[in-house]
Amino acid sequence: MQTLNIIGAGRLGKTLGRLWQQENLFRVQSIYNRSYDSALAAVEFIGAGQASDTIESMAAADYWLISCSDGEIAMIAERLADKLSEREGVIAFHCSGALSSEVLEVLRPASIASAHPVHSFAEPLRSLDSLAGSSVALEGDNLAVSALENAFTAIGCEILTIEARHKSLYHAGSVIACNYLTALVDLSLRSFAAAGIERDNALKLLQPIVLQTAQNNMTLGPERSLTGPIARGDLETVATQVESLASVDPELAFHYRQLGLACVELARRGQLSDESAASLIELLSEPMR
Ligand SMILES: NC(=O)c1ccc[n+]([C@@H]2O[C@H](COP(=O)([O-])OP(=O)(O)OC[C@H]3O[C@@H](n4cnc5c(N)ncnc54)[C@H](OP(=O)(O)O)[C@@H]3O)[C@@H](O)[C@H]2O)c1
Repeated sequence: MQTLNIIGAGRLGKTLGRLWQQENLFRVQSIYNRSYDSALAAVEFIGAGQASDTIESMAAADYWLISCSDGEIAMIAERLADKLSEREGVIAFHCSGALSSEVLEVLRPASIASAHPVHSFAEPLRSLDSLAGSSVALEGDNLAVSALENAFTAIGCEILTIEARHKSLYHAGSVIACNYLTALVDLSLRSFAAAGIERDNALKLLQPIVLQTAQNNMTLGPERSLTGPIARGDLETVATQVESLASVDPELAFHYRQLGLACVELARRGQLSDESAASLIELLSEPMR
């Protein structure tokens, strides 16, 4: 069986390590984290492997996953370069959405790739069950890409191949939908709080409509999912909401107006008339008083 070493077995690294070990796809071998105790905890979670206290003491392996934080990947690659130059046919990869495989150039002659799972590894135990079905964006050398396609397919992931030069735009796409959705929920809770609605009640109130909206977007697309005052061209309601928000929280009003402009753009592709769109744009673009 092929062997896998992990540098940075945190939320993502230990989840992938355990899934691949369970599938008998890789034998997890050496694990190196910033702290030795954390490497020991990762070994326990994965149920295989050995903690290493230095990169130099890690065993030789067929695959090297560098899954530390993005800012550390280049430095780790530098430190690993000598070790990988000793062996033919090694595959080295990272899982950052923002960086391409180029950050691993120093590891050649190893075959290098980046493999970004479009999944939120907030809680590894949950990810063990929920990762299957997620897409993994792959780019890099042919050998590494084809080997990792097999590895991720074996744990139920879908594969999307992209070009290195598109990596940042691709990643921005998932950041907007995933991270900004979370920020939107927070803005919404601030507005409810200003209306005297307690957080728990607000979350309860939001759950069905947020999930339904997400589902509509996935099945109907954003153009057909947009409802509400902007989609209807209801200028009066929008003006009243801007005023109400500005009176309690000007920053909230600012975000409402910025996102409102994006809604107008979207609504124009639907039923919104040019005249209503122009009035809404004027209202939402007005400088804050
Ligand atoms: N989390 C996600 O949802 C997600 C999704 C897709 C892709 N990714 C990518 O996956 C990678 C890892 O993210 P993560 O969320 O799993 O991070 P994480 O939970 O913070 O884990 C990072 C791990 O790297 C180790 N580490 C940090 N600096 C190190 C160094 N200098 N030397 C050795 N080990 C070091 C940490 O060790 P200690 O435990 O000792 O601190 C920790 O175990 C990133 O490239 C990220 O962009 C993450």
